Amino acid sequence: MHKVQERVRPAPAAASRVPVRVFSGIQPTGVVHLGNYVGALRQWAQLQREHESYFCIVDLHAITTPYDPAQFPQQVLEAAAVNVAAGIDPQQSVLFIQSHVAEHTELMWLLNVLTPLGQLERMTQFKEKSRHVRAGIMAGLLNYPVLQAADVLLYKAALVPVGEDQVQHVELMRDIAERFNKQFGETFPLPGVRLTKGARILALNDPTAKMSKSVPGSYIALVDDPETIRKKVRAAVTDPGPPAKGSKLDEATPGVANLFTLLDVFAPVRHPEFADAYQAGTIRYSDLKQVLAEAIVQTFAPVRDKYASLMQRPDEVRALLAHGADRARPVAAATMEEVRGRMGLRGAP
Ligand code: AMP
Ligand code: TRP
Repeated sequence: MHKVQERVRPAPAAASRVPVRVFSGIQPTGVVHLGNYVGALRQWAQLQREHESYFCIVDLHAITTPYDPAQFPQQVLEAAAVNVAAGIDPQQSVLFIQSHVAEHTELMWLLNVLTPLGQLERMTQFKEKSRHVRAGIMAGLLNYPVLQAADVLLYKAALVPVGEDQVQHVELMRDIAERFNKQFGETFPLPGVRLTKGARILALNDPTAKMSKSVPGSYIALVDDPETIRKKVRAAVTDPGPPAKGSKLDEATPGVANLFTLLDVFAPVRHPEFADAYQAGTIRYSDLKQVLAEAIVQTFAPVRDKYASLMQRPDEVRALLAHGADRARPVAAATMEEVRGRMGLRGAP
């Protein structure tokens, strides 16, 4: 696995951006939660200052699980607004809706012919999602990671900032790119994953599972009001009491470790004192939770305000998404020209 370490650097001016393209995507499936923010959005907002960045609301991925077509356009709009509210700057980054750029599906078909069925069947997320399907598993669910590979390769992106659950999908797209280059000539840079601390935030109510929008009670939404955030943090699963004196933090139970990870992200200056208290066996989890809850409330308050204001001007959000697609299209079209040529698909001789 190619892993680029998290580094904090001052943002260079746009002209001196590092010439490695960034691509990532998020599904418009209702809620954007704290796990999405910590694992993905937070680092997107940072990366856009350093790299030419493409961020995509992946509506074509979202329709692989049951959804309501009548509600869907509104959901897509909301997902885009949350992204902007959380710090994606639509001038600096290319923010767009996947289905607005038709080349994603075209490249997907071409990559399908280079993707071993066995590898798709072994994807953890496919196996996990298939378990919950009652009415028969559709091919779209299986081919989901091929579309994801097309997303990234269409822009020749080499850096994919995601949470841990997507690492396997990035490894697959790397394999596909490698196979394409070998068979048809050097075309795609090999994408690598970029993880931050907090790449796997656990469910607050059940720290044996990851925080997920499909499990109510597991998550804090980015647009939750302060009282809801406080209530959810207070209810987070920890230990019945403090640990024995001399306990090591890296051996803490998952629920406690999860809160320390969040503390490190949202209130890093308070982390050492609670870590010391943990090791001394004097920690009070209620104190930690209070500090953490306030830090989350403070971080999310401007996001919530900005989201509300954006949703009062939906036409502006639509316009900036149209602008994003207009910027993405020529890049996608150029890659497709090259790919068709290499694959011998340029029309009659
Ligand atoms: P999704 O909502 O599934 O489209 O995920 C959007 C991004 O959030 C992806 O990069 C995921 O890896 C990341 N993500 C989702 N859940 C979590 C979590 N519990 N912890 C960290 N990152 C997450
Ligand atoms: N599958 C990703 C998720 O569920 C979303 C996604 C779609 C994505 N295309 C992508 C992420 C390309 C990174 C790069 O989180």
